[in-house]
Amino acid sequence: MNHPRVDAVAGEAREAIERAASSAELEAVRVRFLGRQGALTQLLRSLGTLPADERPVVGAAANEAKRVLEALLEARLADAAGRERRRQRAQSRLDLTLPGRRPSQGAVHPLTRVHDEIVSIFVGLGFSVAEGPEIETDFYNFEALNIPRDHPARDMQDTFYVSDATLLRTHTSPVQIRALRAAKGQVPVKTITPGRVYRRDVADASHSPVFHQVEGLAVDRHITMADLKGTLALFAREMFGPDSAVRFRPSFFPFTEPSAEVDVRCFMCAGAGCRACKDGWLEILGSGMVHPQVLRNGGYDPEEVTGWAFGMGIERIAMLKYGVDDLRLFFDNDLRFLRQFA
Ligand code: PHE
Repeated sequence: MNHPRVDAVAGEAREAIERAASSAELEAVRVRFLGRQGALTQLLRSLGTLPADERPVVGAAANEAKRVLEALLEARLADAAGRERRRQRAQSRLDLTLPGRRPSQGAVHPLTRVHDEIVSIFVGLGFSVAEGPEIETDFYNFEALNIPRDHPARDMQDTFYVSDATLLRTHTSPVQIRALRAAKGQVPVKTITPGRVYRRDVADASHSPVFHQVEGLAVDRHITMADLKGTLALFAREMFGPDSAVRFRPSFFPFTEPSAEVDVRCFMCAGAGCRACKDGWLEILGSGMVHPQVLRNGGYDPEEVTGWAFGMGIERIAMLKYGVDDLRLFFDNDLRFLRQFA
């Protein structure tokens, strides 16, 4: 059944459906012709205004046209939706040839690295790790190490006191006494003691109120300064390279007698003398033969045993080894600095 007015609207709708290129456009066409205000809907609604004999013809034609258009729209919508899904899938496909994002790689802190290296060299020589408290008694930090009451090292300027009798240890040497007492007179005693130490210094390029030391102690029946020198020469070769040499200079520590400061030959100028070393040598540690009174304080008889000890700063070794000229760089946690050790 046909009718010119219905045919006109239906033809227009058909054309609009043909032109619509997407599901959104098809939806707009549906609203335009079949929605509540749509052209065909309006036509159906206006049937009552037609002469009575036209009404059934127009009504039937309009209903038929509506059914056909709805079916057409549904089919086109399904096509469009399918096309759109396929396009979207194609666009979001993973490109497996793209380079990946690399997770950034962390690095062991240079102080940890040097710490581990020093400890492992001495563990390799048969030393065992002995640790002690950072809050130490006056007795272990000073008294037992032969540092008398009026010694300048006891000055309030150098030491952080916690109370009259306790303090933040100013060096790792108190662990000498602790290790000797723990060994209860047995020999040999061979200990290595890494740890944090504290001094009342203002931070600058070469000072920090907290830094790290490694203490070495060897006590046995017939230990000599030659053993100390051989051990430290070997340490220097392991730490600074096979051509390293060490030099002993007389020095003084209350807890060793005799005492020596130890230098390593400058590995930047091979001993010729340069800006870093001036005379071809770099100071790396303090050392000496354990003072008889210190052995006694540790529970050993200095007539029976001898020993030597040394203490070195981990920061200082790290600065020399890596050519770092400011101690504060180790504590700033600046990634631009730390990444260089990755
Ligand atoms: N404890 C000394 C210091 O902090 C170093 C040292 C240790 C010297 C052992 C001799 C023997 O300077």
